[in-house]
Amino acid sequence: MGSKKKIGISPYELSHMIIEKEPANLLCTVNSKGKYNIMTITWGLLGPIWHKPVFMVAVRPERYTYGFIEEIQEFTVNLSTSDMKDAVDFCGTKSGRDYDKFKECGLTPVPGRTVRAPIIGECVLHYECRVIHRAEADPLTNHRLYFGEILAVYADEDIVKDN
Ligand SMILES: Cc1cc2nc3c(=O)[nH]c(=O)nc-3n(C[C@H](O)[C@H](O)[C@H](O)COP(=O)(O)O)c2cc1C
Repeated sequence: MGSKKKIGISPYELSHMIIEKEPANLLCTVNSKGKYNIMTITWGLLGPIWHKPVFMVAVRPERYTYGFIEEIQEFTVNLSTSDMKDAVDFCGTKSGRDYDKFKECGLTPVPGRTVRAPIIGECVLHYECRVIHRAEADPLTNHRLYFGEILAVYADEDIVKDN
């Protein structure tokens, strides 16, 4: 499944799939030691701002992911499939401090095309992003908002054809 052919698409071509996010989106990051991590995310926005295509993600400081994204300022967002529900649950409830989530979930890290963070081979739609702005969300929540310029988007061949 992780070895399917992936085709480059434009930033908003399959954005409806990300917004509907069934079952969820997975955020992938890397730290300066080259360690990878995955975190399930619900909050996010996809669209143009400052003349750039941007994916904004919201990460609480207590997440292990937070230190990774602060350090490297790059991330990928990966759309999972319905048969990945166990992995989505695991990555949304367990921390990378305690587990190698790629290993525990049997997922394949594939090097990013334009960023140091990997993509998840088994996912079907991928966004590679570099942070161009950060903002706080207080007093609403303590999430830090990362505005990632979208540098590459690609998807499994059959997903592109069917949508
Ligand atoms: C469906 C779902 C959506 C989530 N969305 C977010 C989110 O958008 N931002 C966030 O900070 N945490 C979110 N979480 C919580 C993190 O995924 C969870 O705390 C995870 O274990 C953090 O992993 P880490 O410590 O390895 O970074 C979500 C959890 C689930 C189950």
